[in-house]
Amino acid sequence: MSVPLAQHWNLDSQQTFLNHGSFGACPREILEKQGSLRDHLERNPVEFLAFQVEALLNESSHRLAGFLKAPASDIAFVPNATHGVNAVLKSLRFAPGDELLVTNHEYNACRQTLDHVAEIWGASLVVADIPFPIADAQEATSALLEKVSPKTKFCLVDHITSATALVLPVEKIVPALQAQGVEVMVDGAHAPGMLNLDLAKLGADYYTGNCHKWLCSPKGAAFLYVQPKHQEKIHPAVTSHGRNSTRKDISRFHEEFHWTGTSDPTAWLCVGDTLDWMSHLLPGGWEQIRRQNHELVCEARKTLCARWETPPLCPESMLGSMACIQLPEMKVGGVPLADGSTLASPLTHALRAEGITVPVISWPSPVGDMVRISAQVYNSRPDYEHLADFVNGLRV
Ligand SMILES: Cc1ncc(COP(=O)(O)O)c(C=O)c1O
Repeated sequence: MSVPLAQHWNLDSQQTFLNHGSFGACPREILEKQGSLRDHLERNPVEFLAFQVEALLNESSHRLAGFLKAPASDIAFVPNATHGVNAVLKSLRFAPGDELLVTNHEYNACRQTLDHVAEIWGASLVVADIPFPIADAQEATSALLEKVSPKTKFCLVDHITSATALVLPVEKIVPALQAQGVEVMVDGAHAPGMLNLDLAKLGADYYTGNCHKWLCSPKGAAFLYVQPKHQEKIHPAVTSHGRNSTRKDISRFHEEFHWTGTSDPTAWLCVGDTLDWMSHLLPGGWEQIRRQNHELVCEARKTLCARWETPPLCPESMLGSMACIQLPEMKVGGVPLADGSTLASPLTHALRAEGITVPVISWPSPVGDMVRISAQVYNSRPDYEHLADFVNGLRV
């Protein structure tokens, strides 16, 4: 990580860090801001948590809402996207025989939530198989629509898939499913900061996204968007004082979500400042960050595919700031990659020993093992060259 912007992050300069996607990374200045908020909190925890935090949260969430192009009244902070998905799914009521739709690319934690909820209500899970490799975004829309039946009540779809790093065409998927009476939740865990969001225009019934990934906020900051017509029925995964509150000066939605018991709210409070700070990092602001990261990941993918002689797995138009690249045949610690087997675990450890942080993911045939690279403003070409060379040294 040799680019000047890397100096703003605490990332270990000896590491080739190609996994912004998993947990994000927060700039030093924002961590300092969070530290000073914590100091402030600890000078008088009661004053801060009982009397000051609500106004501060309000301000931070208004700034986030502006960035997401959503009314501030329709978004609430949650600690992470997993919480967002859980809040919605555990609030909804289903009947035996109802069908809940999901794709084969769904993030495991959220798929488990869906499985759990289906089990509780006696509903069935229907999985739409989106092909991978994929030639065209329309294949994803068609795969989902083919699985809709009169019994389909709800669909959970990722905006950006975790294991395969595909940007799904949710602007087509959402209205097409809603037109058939299906409520749609978009899991946009990776989307804020990677894609230019307009939540009001998208019109999903529910949308959750992380601030701690591509917005680079401190960890523990995410949001849940709920359309006004659904807000009455949606509750946080944890019940607290808001349930029987008689207050009229705050919406029930905000009151319930913004207090779920004592916790450290400083990550949420830093979201507005993170948005501003990041927007001044490059002359073209957020638009330039998104474009630059996308261009870097596309170029890195081209390099890796050429060096490893493997085919691209999706069109560039389906990439944001991450990409999966199929690995070539190789041997790790004397173990060859045999047909249908995976080297994900030994390769992960070999990469760690080499100082390269990148996830190795195993996908069903014909893809097999692949790496998922990320591109953030602190990355540059030599990071991907390091990965290319290391893997080429293991080829058979
Ligand atoms: C699609 C998707 N949903 C949910 C999550 C979970 O995010 P978190 O751990 O912040 O809840 C991830 C994490 O990578 C993800 O990719």
